[in-house]
Amino acid sequence: MSRIVFLNGSFLPIDEAKVPFMDRGFMFGDGVYEGIGVLNGRLVDNEAHLERLERSLKEIQIPNPYSRAEWTRLEEELVRRNNMTEGFVYFQVTRGVAERDFFFPTDARPTVAMFTQAKSIANAPAAEAGISVITVPDMRWERRDIKSINLLAQVLAKQAAKEAGAQEAWMVQDGYVTEGGSSSAFIVTKAGSIVVRPLSNAILPGITRKSLLQMSREDGIVLEERLFTVNEAYDAAEAFLTSASNFVVPVVRIDGRPVADGKPGPVTKRLRQLYLQMAAGPALAAE
Ligand SMILES: Cc1ncc(COP(=O)(O)O)c(C=O)c1O
Repeated sequence: MSRIVFLNGSFLPIDEAKVPFMDRGFMFGDGVYEGIGVLNGRLVDNEAHLERLERSLKEIQIPNPYSRAEWTRLEEELVRRNNMTEGFVYFQVTRGVAERDFFFPTDARPTVAMFTQAKSIANAPAAEAGISVITVPDMRWERRDIKSINLLAQVLAKQAAKEAGAQEAWMVQDGYVTEGGSSSAFIVTKAGSIVVRPLSNAILPGITRKSLLQMSREDGIVLEERLFTVNEAYDAAEAFLTSASNFVVPVVRIDGRPVADGKPGPVTKRLRQLYLQMAAGPALAAE
């Protein structure tokens, strides 16, 4: 069965889904996106993702083409049509199609494109063994809180990680870690508290981060929302990352140095477990 995608009101086979040449997403990167995890055929934290989408669209003045209920129906329908039980749903909204000119077009309609990607999250080998990250300079613009489709800095950062034999890049500004190329960055101190950078224009407000912080509070884990340096990360008891398409993944090497004993630590394992239970949904978690 060919993969079914959603484009501007229609569900259709991916080979038939064509975006016009002059789309501003293609020409300018003029758009925003969302990525939502799927476990047991169920969207994880979808409301929070749709809330962030609303904010991103508002910040760049693109009208939201759908209500939250409509977005949810489209996402669920796409998951169903692709028989997907685990993976993620990606969608983007661009300012639409217009002759190339920097000013906002007056008569363009937003382009909406959505696809699913099947992928193992709950039993991903990387989540068992942990991954390596490298640190790179954060070369991005000043509005990283907007989930823009402009991802050139992250493409370069993640390619550099791959070439160094790592799976993610942690971006660094003024000596402090901002976030991963496509994930939020955390460390655990020797005293067992979690350290994560506070929200600001310097990072994307990660939805997995938000849920995880809530769960940690409820679990009695001490949280420190503050900046942390690369040296502090090298010296941490544990490190991990979060994202909608990976949930919680241990980081066991940073720039080639093992984090503590180079194995996933107990706090990270506990948080991954808590997140998986939430993502699996109430009925399944209770089994
Ligand atoms: C730069 C960046 N930071 C953090 C995240 C994690 O955010 P979320 O948990 O909402 O997937 C992402 C996800 O794509 C990202 O691209």
